[in-house]
Amino acid sequence: MTTKRKLHIRTYGCQMNVYDSARMADVLAPLGYAPTEALDEADMILINTCHIREKAAEKLFSDLGRLRLLKNDRAKDGGRLVIGVAGCVAQAEGEEILARAPFVDLVLGPQTYHRLPEMIARLARGDGPVLDTEFPPEPKFDHLPESTAARAVSAFLSVQEGCDKFCTFCVVPYTRGAEFSRPAAAVLAEAQRLVAAGAREITLLGQNVNAYHGEAVDGEAWGLGRLIQALAELPGIARLRYTTSHPRDMSEELIEAHRDVEKLMPFVHLPVQSGSDKMLLAMNRGHSVDDYRRIIDQLRAARPDIALSSDFIIGFPGESDADFAATLALVREIGFAQAFSFKYSKRPGTPGAAMRGQIAEDVKSERLQILQELLGEQQRRFNETCAGRVLPVLFEKPGRHPGQLVGRSPYLQWVHARAPSRCQGSVLPVRITVIGPNSLAGETETLAEAVA
Ligand code: SAH
Ligand code: SF4
Ligand code: F3S
Repeated sequence: MTTKRKLHIRTYGCQMNVYDSARMADVLAPLGYAPTEALDEADMILINTCHIREKAAEKLFSDLGRLRLLKNDRAKDGGRLVIGVAGCVAQAEGEEILARAPFVDLVLGPQTYHRLPEMIARLARGDGPVLDTEFPPEPKFDHLPESTAARAVSAFLSVQEGCDKFCTFCVVPYTRGAEFSRPAAAVLAEAQRLVAAGAREITLLGQNVNAYHGEAVDGEAWGLGRLIQALAELPGIARLRYTTSHPRDMSEELIEAHRDVEKLMPFVHLPVQSGSDKMLLAMNRGHSVDDYRRIIDQLRAARPDIALSSDFIIGFPGESDADFAATLALVREIGFAQAFSFKYSKRPGTPGAAMRGQIAEDVKSERLQILQELLGEQQRRFNETCAGRVLPVLFEKPGRHPGQLVGRSPYLQWVHARAPSRCQGSVLPVRITVIGPNSLAGETETLAEAVA
């Protein structure tokens, strides 16, 4: 073990980036890097970036401006601060980052972070900044260490990565590369390690997680439904979730898992983007509004209490008032427990950026506000239906007040309740008494019985 050094990782973007940041910390641990929250303690700072919308990418350069000052101060004291940029902006704009911010030492894409030790060795030789944004033929998962770091009660596990769908607005196929599924045995082994390190809930991750088709020991390709069934049999796992799904890959097997697998939580994040067939076609989504309705009907038939979430893009090129009205109508028809909505952001190199019929910024803002009001109202209404109900809550961490813990309901709502700290990691029944804007609160029932 080398001398102790400190590593600070700042993470933007999706849950996959959160997972990747944890794995980068695992890769660097054998080199003597221990994680720190404090920037001014760090010997290495990695920014794990997101390229999905323009604003997400802009954050990088404002962060880097501040880090340059920190690096200069450190140099004045005779010390050295290594600055690295990882993730999807690094993948898409690696050269530009080094041109605009030459004080950056490392630039690495989402598929090369297992090579961080080599990059650091190259950097130490003094050859200048290191850029590694290849898509190696060997998947990085084969080269990552088996993580031993203690994990949270709720852990992420990447099972699928990349995307071949090429929606016309989206950078992910370019930044993450081609779709890839990890073998089922590797996923099961990692899940077991997570449980051994204290996880009770595992969220399976993928840019299109329900396109999962990992090779299994029986030589077959398992779909996500089959994988979930196998994971549910592992002792110690209390809950399973998965995100993000695509409507085209919502297989019968996966829908049936919602009926048959009790540990699979009744919550699905299924982005629809628009309620207009014309827009779905322009976006190259490969499904119609009716296809989406049918899937929702099937999910509700399999699991009547299932809570639904979605993503919406407002103001994609060509979106008329009528198209936007169709989106509002679909939202009213389906009813979402929560949802994310974004103004369309032109991304370099994607077909949408060059399309005619770009929508004016003020029109986008106006439509977004109307949609967000509707979605917010639906979320409040959904939360209100929970008042007085007893929901099983998996407690994850201390709450805001002493003596309080906070955890998730099956429907992914945060729930605060008084409970002793030994109940972290336990599922307890909580009677919901308070409906807040962003979380619920309640009282734990039959504490002794539930903890046993
Ligand atoms: N694979 C998922 C989405 C991943 S990206 C799917 O197919 O649904 C997460 C969300 O970011 C998308 O669902 C979309 O709503 C939003 N998004 C992606 N590109 C965007 C862009 N150019 N402008 C605005 N929002 C975008
Ligand atoms: Fe992007 Fe579409 Fe792939 Fe989702 S399915 S990651 S939105 S290209
Ligand atoms: Fe962003 Fe890359 Fe995730 S662009 S949303 S960090 S896949």
